[in-house]
Amino acid sequence: MYNKLTTCLASIREKVDFKPERALILGSGLGDYADEIKVTDTIAYTEIEGFPVSTVKGHKGRFVFGYVENTPVVIMQGRVHYYEGYQMSDVVLPTRLMGMMGAKKIILTNAAGGINDAYNPGDLMMITDHIATGVPSPLIGPNIEELGTRFPDMSEVYSERLRNVIRECAKQCKINIKEGVYVQFTGPNYETPAEVRMAKIWGGDAVGMSTACEAVAARHMGMEVCGISCITNMAAGLSKQQLDHKEVQETADRVAKSFKELVTKVIVNM
Ligand code: HPA
Repeated sequence: MYNKLTTCLASIREKVDFKPERALILGSGLGDYADEIKVTDTIAYTEIEGFPVSTVKGHKGRFVFGYVENTPVVIMQGRVHYYEGYQMSDVVLPTRLMGMMGAKKIILTNAAGGINDAYNPGDLMMITDHIATGVPSPLIGPNIEELGTRFPDMSEVYSERLRNVIRECAKQCKINIKEGVYVQFTGPNYETPAEVRMAKIWGGDAVGMSTACEAVAARHMGMEVCGISCITNMAAGLSKQQLDHKEVQETADRVAKSFKELVTKVIVNM
């Protein structure tokens, strides 16, 4: 796996010599954020040797390099999901690559279903912690010693310092940001109402199909992590509506403007 990472990195370096300080992963419907920054380079995932390529409609699938104000960032426009059939180690490969390119801090974003009764579709939720028991750990397999230790501590996956930054930035943007625990399931089917009740008993506030695995991989290699979910719908059984991807996209599009404003502030101040 480390060889695969270094091969991908070399393949990127042949095309682009950009040193990002910060990394950002864009979730469903939030993908056009990358069009708003000062772009210097892009690389389609398909151009990178050995890179897993996304199949989901609406996911563009490329790294975008550029500046948010004066901050050099790398953005993953379109992520890799476990439900597409990749090994978990491939799902987190792009996250690890962004770390290896030099990004020491990462913002993870996603669309998620709300479990907490106080949430409404369209809310943004700062991730305070996660539950990833529904998916295999991305660290299963021989440990990559070059990246981190065999048994990494996960007592503060989402940096307290960055949580304070997000709170402050949300206040400045006049966003009433929620805070909660993200529960990752594999997808691609949405959860059953019973699974959602279970996630609630576990202590979850939102459910989704990404992010926690990326956070684990990023922490393993010592990156500072934070995350923001867009609550695009109430999770199964909590509203009368059936779930569909179109609703998820529509809500994400509706809040995209304030989401982008918040992400910009966080990137600059993190
Ligand atoms: N469940 C899982 N993933 C999701 C949901 C959901 O309700 N909404 C958006 N992504």
